[in-house]
Amino acid sequence: STTVKRGDDGVLQVGGLPVTEIAERCGTPVYVLDEDDFHARARSFVEAFEGWDVYYAGKSFLTTAVAGWALADGLFVDCSTGGELAVALRGGVPGQRIGLHGNNKSEAEIEMALEAGVGRIIVDSFDEISRISRAAAERGARPRVMVRVTTGVEAHTHEYIATAHEDQKFGFSIASGQALEALRACESDPHMELIGIHSHIGSQIFETLGFEVAARRIMALHAQAAREFGRQLPEMDLGGGFGIAYTSTDRPESPATLAEALRAIVEEQARDLDVDVPRMSIEPGRAIVGPTTMALYRVGTVKQVVLDGGAARTYISVDGGMSDNIRPALYGAEYSATLASRSSAAAPRLSRIVGKHCEGGDILVRDEFMPADITPGDLVAVPGSGAYSRAMASNYNMVPRPPVVAVKDGRIHTLVRRETIDDLLGLDVGYDPAP
Ligand code: LLP
Repeated sequence: STTVKRGDDGVLQVGGLPVTEIAERCGTPVYVLDEDDFHARARSFVEAFEGWDVYYAGKSFLTTAVAGWALADGLFVDCSTGGELAVALRGGVPGQRIGLHGNNKSEAEIEMALEAGVGRIIVDSFDEISRISRAAAERGARPRVMVRVTTGVEAHTHEYIATAHEDQKFGFSIASGQALEALRACESDPHMELIGIHSHIGSQIFETLGFEVAARRIMALHAQAAREFGRQLPEMDLGGGFGIAYTSTDRPESPATLAEALRAIVEEQARDLDVDVPRMSIEPGRAIVGPTTMALYRVGTVKQVVLDGGAARTYISVDGGMSDNIRPALYGAEYSATLASRSSAAAPRLSRIVGKHCEGGDILVRDEFMPADITPGDLVAVPGSGAYSRAMASNYNMVPRPPVVAVKDGRIHTLVRRETIDDLLGLDVGYDPAP
C-alpha cells in the first residue's frame, strides 16, 4: 500500500508513523488504516471506470468517516441493511448517492430508504416488490428500483462455475424466467420506477471470465426487456467481487485492466444485441478497503509443538484472533504475517499465528515463515485486513472488539474506538422483564 514501508530500524511504518508508536498509543490489537491508500484506491476505481458509477460496498467496512471519504472521492455507497444506511447518511452521503441491497429488507428498512430518498433499491423477491409498492404508495413516493438477477455464474477466486440455475437465496433467476417476471412486475407497478438489472456473481474473484459470462446473460435479458417494454432500461450494475492479494501468490487485476475488460464485454454485447450501452455501475468493497489496513497484534506466547515424526511447529499466540478476523476459520481464508516491530536476522521458521480464543480453530495465519527469535512483546502485522474483518468481528469469549485508526502524514485519527468490557456489560441487563 502507498505509505507502508519499513524504517531503517526495521520497524514497519504507516502514514509516516512507526507501528510501535501506533501500538503504544492505541493499544493492540488495532486495525491500522492507511488513509492515503484508501483515497488512492477509491479514486483509481473512479478514474478507471470513468463514465460508470462506482458504489463502495459498505458491508466490507463502513464508518461515518469512511462513508464521507467515499463520497469525497466520487463514489456512491452501497448499503445492505438499515444499519449501513444509517452510517452512510450520518457520514453525510446524500440519499441519492446510496443504493440499498438486501434479500430480506424489513418494512422499517424500506421506510428508511424512502425517507432518505435513496437513489436505488435493489429488489430481491416478489414479496419485496409488493412491500415496496405499498410503502411507496402510502408516502406518494416512486423509488428507483433495480432487479437483482442470478445469472447461473458463481465465481470464487480462480474458479467460476456457469450453470443454468443457482441454488441460493439471492435474486431472481434468469433461466427460470423469474427475472423477466420480476422486471415485468416492477415495470407495471405505478409506485416504482424500474431502472435496470443488477448482478453480483461472487467475491474475491481474479478472472474476468465470470463477469464476461454474467454480462452476456444479463445483456440478453436487458435486450429482451427492451423489446417487450418498448423502452431500454437506462442502467445496469455488474456488482463487486474484485480480488485482492492476501498472500504472495495472489495476482489481482488493476482497476484499469478490469475496466477495460468489462467495458469491452458490455460494448460487444450491446452491438450484437442492437441495444445501447446502459449507464453502468459496479460495487467494489474489498478491492478498495481490503489492502489499506493491517491488523496489528502483540505476541503473548511462543510455543513449540512437537509433531508426529519429531518435527516441531511454532505456535505464536497474539492478543486477538477469530473474534476480530473470522475469515480464516469461516472460509479457510489465507493471510500472511510479518514481524512488524523490529528487524531480525534469525532464521525463518514455519509458524502458525493463532489467537486467544478457546478453540483450536482460532487460527489467523495457518503457515507463515517468522523469524525464529520471535518473542512475547513483538508486534505482528497481518496485511489485507481492511475488508470483512472488523466488519464481521464478534465478541466471542466476551472479547471487546479492536479499534480502527486511520494514519496519514504522521497523524492518527480514530474511526472506531476500542470496545470496553463496560460496553459489553452494558448490554447485559441482568434479568429484566420483557416489555
Ligand atoms: N455488491 C453486492 C450485491 C454484494 O453482495 C457484495 C458482497 C459486494 C457488492 C461487494 O463485494 P466485494 O467487492 O467486497 O467482494 N464476507 C465475505 C465476502 C462476502 C461478500 C458479500 N457480498 C468474505 O469475507 O470474503
